[in-house]
Amino acid sequence: MTEDVIQLLLGQHGQIRDLFTRVQEADGRDRRDAFAELVRLLAVHETAEEQVVHPLARRAIDAGAPLVDDRLAEERQAKELLSRLESMGADHEDFLPLLAELRASVLLHAHHEEQYEFPYLRHSCNEKELRGLAVMVRAAERVAPTHPHPGVETGVENLAAGPALALFDRVKDAVSKAISTDDRTAG
Ligand SMILES: [Fe+2]
Ligand SMILES: [Fe+2]
Repeated sequence: MTEDVIQLLLGQHGQIRDLFTRVQEADGRDRRDAFAELVRLLAVHETAEEQVVHPLARRAIDAGAPLVDDRLAEERQAKELLSRLESMGADHEDFLPLLAELRASVLLHAHHEEQYEFPYLRHSCNEKELRGLAVMVRAAERVAPTHPHPGVETGVENLAAGPALALFDRVKDAVSKAISTDDRTAG
């Protein structure tokens, strides 16, 4: 595997931005489907960052702790908004304005990571470490596939049918498992 965790996360930032646009431009069933996909991608992405990338940044970057605390606060706020959008439903008249609020806050958050966190991580960690972390982010993706293959849509819909916050928890469990497997392998 040649990708490293920073390349992977940057790619996901781009996908997140595109998905927001898709949700905003669609309506009816298409909007609901695109929103479900956005919830899955955000669950994978933010959970992987919370468990894998931010802890490393906290240790590896000088004065990393306050920086990471700010990112975690932004992620908590996004999760809250996401959950409000979900209970409101994609057809509600307030959905698009609230979605625009979430989009602005998630994209600003991603910008902060790209500006203040990722470059320092690249500087402080070696390539092997960064490639190892990509494996854990991929483990998170497997729990909540964001690009379902044809024919498996039903399973994916079931997975996303629960509340978004439950999905975040499931991704968190999967990443924890990937981390402990990796520890065993390393040990
Ligand atoms: Fe994040
Ligand atoms: Fe991010």
